[in-house]
Amino acid sequence: MDYESQESKIRGFERGYRAVYVINIGLQFGLFRALCEDSEGLTAQNLADRLSLYEPYLKIWLQTAYHFELLNCDSRGMFTLQPYLAEILGIDMGLEPIIQNAGSSSLARYILTGLPAPHHRSTEESLATSRATQTVYMVFLSYILEKHEALKQSMNTGIRFIDIGCGSGHLIIELALAFPNSSFKGIDTDIHGLERAESAANTLGIYDRVSFEDLSAEELDCQEEFDVACMVAALHEILPADRPASLKNIHRALKSRGHLILLDFPYPEKLEDFRNQRYDIGIIEQFFEAPGGIVHLGATEQDNLLKQAGFNNIQRSDLNNGMFDLIVAVK
Ligand SMILES: C[S@@+](CC[C@H](N)C(=O)[O-])C[C@H]1O[C@@H](n2cnc3c(N)ncnc32)[C@H](O)[C@@H]1O
Repeated sequence: MDYESQESKIRGFERGYRAVYVINIGLQFGLFRALCEDSEGLTAQNLADRLSLYEPYLKIWLQTAYHFELLNCDSRGMFTLQPYLAEILGIDMGLEPIIQNAGSSSLARYILTGLPAPHHRSTEESLATSRATQTVYMVFLSYILEKHEALKQSMNTGIRFIDIGCGSGHLIIELALAFPNSSFKGIDTDIHGLERAESAANTLGIYDRVSFEDLSAEELDCQEEFDVACMVAALHEILPADRPASLKNIHRALKSRGHLILLDFPYPEKLEDFRNQRYDIGIIEQFFEAPGGIVHLGATEQDNLLKQAGFNNIQRSDLNNGMFDLIVAVK
């Protein structure tokens, strides 16, 4: 058996686990039962009114259940149960969720009130995030910088680079090793990630060119200091209310003609795309991150935010068979 088939087996288990989680929420909060009782179908608003639950979360649940082909949706936006699911899932019989523990108390509060759970990233979560993205620097070195020759040249000559939402600092540490004339700053609010980043920079002896700060994008207060800013899987994590100020701060922190490089998971803007593989990661991340108040952005919203913050020349492309959006914008 080769690496690819082993990996695809594990990814299949992971996807099945996530689908079961979505099913459990539907069973636990009576969403399937309400859909079962109405053959005409229901919208998120209908479900919210009927069950006194938070409509924006129900919309995400319906779209994710549609993604997993548990639900259908007609041209009026009415969601219905797929054939035979009522019997198979035991919806009429009020069966217990397939795996217990689907609805944590913070999720229950969120689905009832829409109040996100205050998010404190634990050491374990911080490590898991960092492992999931630890090879992104290779994408930078082998793809982004190869495609943007002028940027690579300026990094060779020496620039100031800031990574917003830097996590454990993998990206800027690797870039600092590759470009000894450039200096780097990473900001984040995950103190566990920042501790690991600082310790790695010290061990590698590059702390004179690499610094980290416990700072959110909305608190960033610099003026024309950096040539390049980047955000890797970080824009979607900034809460919607904080995004306009965060992007304005980043714009202000860049020098004239400075570049912002954004890498993030694409998120669908229309229902049919909820079954397009390109959006798999974004759809599932959105579902699991929703109770923390995280709202993923579609391309139009990303572009509008960038324009409102003052960025021009917004260029979009995609990486890894479309699983990542790469956006480069200029001040
Ligand atoms: C999915 S992680 C990606 C981390 C890192 N860029 C990487 O590729 O490993 C998103 C990061 O954004 C950070 N973040 C969330 N909201 C933020 C904010 N308002 N300002 C700065 N960073 C933020 C999180 O703490 C987290 O470390």
